[in-house]
Amino acid sequence: MSIAVPEITLNDGLSLPVMGFGTYKLNGNDGANAIHSAINKGYRLIDTAYNYENEGTVGESVRRTSIPRHELRITSKLPGRYQTYDKAVSTIQESLYRANLDYYDLYLIHWPNPQQNNFIEAWQALIDAKKWGLIRSIGVCNFLPEHLERLEKETGTKASINQIELHPFFNQEDQRKWHEENDIKTQSWSPLAHANDVLTNDTLKKIADNHTKSISQVILRWHYQLGAISIPKSASPIRQLENISIFDFSLDETEMSMIAALTRQDGRINNQDPAVYEEF
Ligand SMILES: NC(=O)c1ccc[n+]([C@@H]2O[C@H](COP(=O)([O-])OP(=O)(O)OC[C@H]3O[C@@H](n4cnc5c(N)ncnc54)[C@H](OP(=O)(O)O)[C@@H]3O)[C@@H](O)[C@H]2O)c1
Repeated sequence: MSIAVPEITLNDGLSLPVMGFGTYKLNGNDGANAIHSAINKGYRLIDTAYNYENEGTVGESVRRTSIPRHELRITSKLPGRYQTYDKAVSTIQESLYRANLDYYDLYLIHWPNPQQNNFIEAWQALIDAKKWGLIRSIGVCNFLPEHLERLEKETGTKASINQIELHPFFNQEDQRKWHEENDIKTQSWSPLAHANDVLTNDTLKKIADNHTKSISQVILRWHYQLGAISIPKSASPIRQLENISIFDFSLDETEMSMIAALTRQDGRINNQDPAVYEEF
């Protein structure tokens, strides 16, 4: 069974499905089987990163599927240790070689690492790689408004998306609003909060029961109604299908407000505040 996922258009014209598939920890042959299964369920947007060490696995699943390449959207990310211009350019090329792809649909700076202050150089490399046809759309992850503002001010090019930690315990209301006002799409990483106690939350259980849906489905529907592109990861074909089966019900305003009330100041999964946390 394959589910049709609606699409949106980014500020640079690239269309993207409103839900994608996370691949962190999906490596090797088991990983390629899991990603191939996800594509069969209807996922067309596949999220990898240089640092997941599975760009090759993603490339293999792209070769295994009968879905044409142009219908897929493959994302990868530039690690913090390669943010100087020359290193960024060769890392983008290495990402392509690893996956044996001619281009990535999306390439993102993985973390701003503001203390290093190299993300503008990295951004210039992404801009040039897009001009050279290696990338179709360029964006970032974990950027705060002050970092996003610098990209546009110092290079004239804004990000198409910002992939940020977003789940019911950390709903990023202000950051989402800022994205909306600046025509940048929000993408949600760890949309199921990495399957922590959000999946046994009483409020979410009540809402799920109202709709005869699972808590995961309610959370993923909530992302969709917020206008955020979620990228849930699952190694299980059954849970992959469960997660993508969210386009046949909707949450009403009261339910959306009940979920909004679950957010907490300290709701991040691993306390990774991009103002101070750096990843290489
Ligand atoms: N840009 C960044 O800095 C950043 C950071 C973190 C993650 N990411 C991206 O975001 C993707 C998603 O985040 P994530 O993998 O951290 O967390 P997630 O998608 O929120 O949760 C994944 C966990 O939930 C379980 N799960 C999935 N569907 C389920 C369901 N229906 N019922 C119960 N459990 C379920 C999975 O187990 P099974 O596999 O056993 O189903 C896995 O343990 C990553 O894979 C990665 O691509 C990006």
